[in-house]
Amino acid sequence: MRIQPAKSADVPEIAAIYAHHVQHGTASYEIAAPTEAEMVVRLARVLDAGWPWLVARGDKGEREGEREGEMLGYAYASQFRDRAAYRFACENSVYVRSDLRGAGIGTALLAALLDAARLVGFRQMIAVIGGAEPASVALHAGLGFAHAGTLRAIGRKHGRWLDTVYMQIALGDGAAGAPAEEPQ
Ligand SMILES: CC(C)(COP(=O)(O)OP(=O)(O)OC[C@H]1O[C@@H](n2cnc3c(N)ncnc32)[C@H](O)[C@@H]1OP(=O)(O)O)[C@@H](O)C(=O)NCCC(=O)NCCS
Repeated sequence: MRIQPAKSADVPEIAAIYAHHVQHGTASYEIAAPTEAEMVVRLARVLDAGWPWLVARGDKGEREGEREGEMLGYAYASQFRDRAAYRFACENSVYVRSDLRGAGIGTALLAALLDAARLVGFRQMIAVIGGAEPASVALHAGLGFAHAGTLRAIGRKHGRWLDTVYMQIALGDGAAGAPAEEPQ
């Protein structure tokens, strides 16, 4: 597969992948899938801030159910929380097309995102795992994330109370040494 920076032309496929997970899963605590127009705004916010948003596309249609060149999944990093002192901590989002899960696409996307987030200066990455999804916990643990806590019954969707698992990994120098510029 090819992993490359997202561009605005990718939005319809990004929106379609995300909509499925919003409607059928618990990784996202959104209840209604955002429109393509809203996804244009979200993508622009990430790219305008200089944060990474990557998409994976199939090269040869080698996976069952995959057509050549179509989007397999996407991943992005955005500041963990808005306030300035969080400047060096990001949260990730990784979504793989529903029918292609379990084929290594999420691992490839998240590995590339770890590099990209480090290169733009983030020192920590946090995974906020809605519904304590086992696949997501396994994905992050496999790439070295450590458990950082669980919030019990903090979400409600599809008629269930949902736990949120936090996992964390240091990027680059992590907490060693000060950054080149202090947050303003
Ligand atoms: C979570 C997700 C991104 C993982 O991507 P993926 O391409 O399916 O995962 P991979 O094939 O790379 O496998 C990653 C790990 O998850 C495990 N895994 C995959 N599907 C699983 C499942 N249904 N249940 C338990 N573990 C699973 C794999 O065995 C692998 O673990 P290992 O490295 O210990 O073998 C993908 O399943 C997805 O989009 N899920 C819905 C949205 C979501 O939860 N996103 C994360 C939000 S932070």
